[in-house]
Amino acid sequence: MRRSKEIYRCETGFFCVTAVHFLLKILEIAIAFSDKQCYNYRRIHNMCARTGGRGYNMKAYTNVTVFDHPLITHKLSILRDANTGSKQFRELVCEIGMLMGYEVMRDLPMEDVEIDTPITRATVKMISGKKLALVPILRAGLGMLDGVLSLVPSAKIGHIGLYRDHDTLEPKEYFCKLPEDIAHRQVILLDPMLATGGSACAAVDFIKARGCSQIKFVSILAAPEGVERLAKTHPDVQIYTGGVDEKLNEKGYIVPGLGDAGDRLFGTL
Ligand code: PRP
Ligand code: URA
Repeated sequence: MRRSKEIYRCETGFFCVTAVHFLLKILEIAIAFSDKQCYNYRRIHNMCARTGGRGYNMKAYTNVTVFDHPLITHKLSILRDANTGSKQFRELVCEIGMLMGYEVMRDLPMEDVEIDTPITRATVKMISGKKLALVPILRAGLGMLDGVLSLVPSAKIGHIGLYRDHDTLEPKEYFCKLPEDIAHRQVILLDPMLATGGSACAAVDFIKARGCSQIKFVSILAAPEGVERLAKTHPDVQIYTGGVDEKLNEKGYIVPGLGDAGDRLFGTL
């Protein structure tokens, strides 16, 4: 009788320890998850607070990352300056493209590969066969292309030509040429400006219509309106930006912004 009581106590103790262990594990996962979400939110929220964003609830969008790196912010500030000429503007857009590309590709999958070093045979890590496609939205996205391409020179390149109708601000398509196998590629969509979000949404629609489901959108500057529209319309798309400004003006330009990115890049002001 005493023996069966001992067994019973032992089993109860074991059950309690396992249950506590299980609960702690769940707590740990929950904290890690909320930390990651808060991190992205904090960065975007701080940016809005600093520039006086109009109370958009960015917290809802866990697929948005705002870069807060001093190099990116500093270069973006020079882009904003109306006295910055086309040559310097082009150079900076390219540099920011490279800096952002470095971070955007942080989660590329790796695989073990066997090689011979000069000393011995070794197993090393290399980027696995993940195929990339870089897709600039014409015209201004072209400015970011070389910077990103310098990191992944063998990536395929697609082009999507869109311009905003001056009156309706709706995007008009004039060109679309994407790699044949885009459905099997990770797409990095490039456009320095995310204003109303119309162009970005249209570009994502084109790419999805070709069967591609892995899309990242990279912009240098965004308006809260554009972030909200893209994040809501395409919650599966990861959005990266160098800053979220205060608002759009009545002509659909980002305020304070940097003006018309395409015109400043190509000197067509
Ligand atoms: C700019 C920019 C984006 C779009 C953003 O292009 O490069 O593509 O505006 O605005 P949205 O978010 O309101 O759609 P634009 O239409 O001026 O064409 P361009 O690059 O040829 O100058
Ligand atoms: N497109 C630009 O180039 N600049 C803006 O501010 C908005 C859209």
